[in-house]
Amino acid sequence: MDFYKYGDYENLSSKLIKDIQSNLIDWYMKNHRKLPWRENKNPYYIWISEVMLQQTRVETVIPYFLNFINKFPDVKVLANAHEEEVLKAWEGLGYYSRAKNIHRGAKMICDEFLGVVPKTQNEIRKITGIGPYTAGAILSIAYDQAVSAVDGNVMRVFSRLFCIKEDIGENKTRKEMEKLGSILVSREKPSFFNQALMELGAMICIPKNPKCIACPLFSQCSGRELGVADDLPVKKKKITKREVDLEVALICNTDKFFIVKRSSEGLLANLWALPSIEKEKNMEDGKSILLKLKENYEMIVEKEKFLFQKEHIFTHLKWNMNVYRYKLIKNNLVDKDKNQWICIEDIEKYAFPTAFMKILKEIKKLV
Ligand code: ADE
Repeated sequence: MDFYKYGDYENLSSKLIKDIQSNLIDWYMKNHRKLPWRENKNPYYIWISEVMLQQTRVETVIPYFLNFINKFPDVKVLANAHEEEVLKAWEGLGYYSRAKNIHRGAKMICDEFLGVVPKTQNEIRKITGIGPYTAGAILSIAYDQAVSAVDGNVMRVFSRLFCIKEDIGENKTRKEMEKLGSILVSREKPSFFNQALMELGAMICIPKNPKCIACPLFSQCSGRELGVADDLPVKKKKITKREVDLEVALICNTDKFFIVKRSSEGLLANLWALPSIEKEKNMEDGKSILLKLKENYEMIVEKEKFLFQKEHIFTHLKWNMNVYRYKLIKNNLVDKDKNQWICIEDIEKYAFPTAFMKILKEIKKLV
């Protein structure tokens, strides 16, 4: 068996590509389900069905699809409908932003494309709610263009077929798979080819216990040959980020402001920063940092105003940094190793982490 090296599309053998295409298409012709959106190539129907199918099972979609095209038989009728009516027709399907986007998309198609679903990648991607998958599905199924249409099901099929162990949750993996899809797609029958991949993912190459014995790609499948089909695709759990509201103090005294060296342990250790602290729950805005300044530096300040918010994202953590301006009232300490009064021009002399550089850049604009 030919084994495919991830990313090495140029070297996919033309025999392997031809075998995959013909086995898939032959299987699809004999085995596909009769579904209402497969009865003709109306691009409007394909669009609506693909959006409905994105997060919803085929059996659930069928009655909604039939009702929707009955109520809104073409793009123009949909564009002229009230949003309320569109949402009503979507009621129970969930993910209502899909319905709102379809409605907005229909208006765009009428205003900018004379009521015809666009036929080019460039144009179709301008429509609200049409991403790479939906664009590929419409262009290949309705307009017979040899482009890829890669959704989660197709990624599962490709992961197994070519034994791809990259995380399918990552954008770059999806992009690689889209390239792979555009190399594999049949130039003669792109519509059948892409629908065959979707159908294979739904009926044979299912998430658990794939039915390899019945698979038309049995002989071409590296994942099956290596006994790892069941373990693929790899989808790493997204790390959930803790969100922290941070209070940050810009303490001004004449033309200088106060900076502190962060602790020698923990996040951003030993780097310079503006004084900051996690906001205490139920504490008045801007008060948590005021108390910390008093406690740590015996510094008395008075809050002047809220300046702006910036965010910074770490691997496990998101900081929502709320920056307040304070006036110095009383200051006892000078420990040049741990804190400093500096001018804005001096910031280059100190090592500030990106999170605080974002804030300092914003402050520079204010002065
Ligand atoms: N899932 C996504 N698109 C589909 C289609 N056109 N037919 C069946 N299942 C699908």
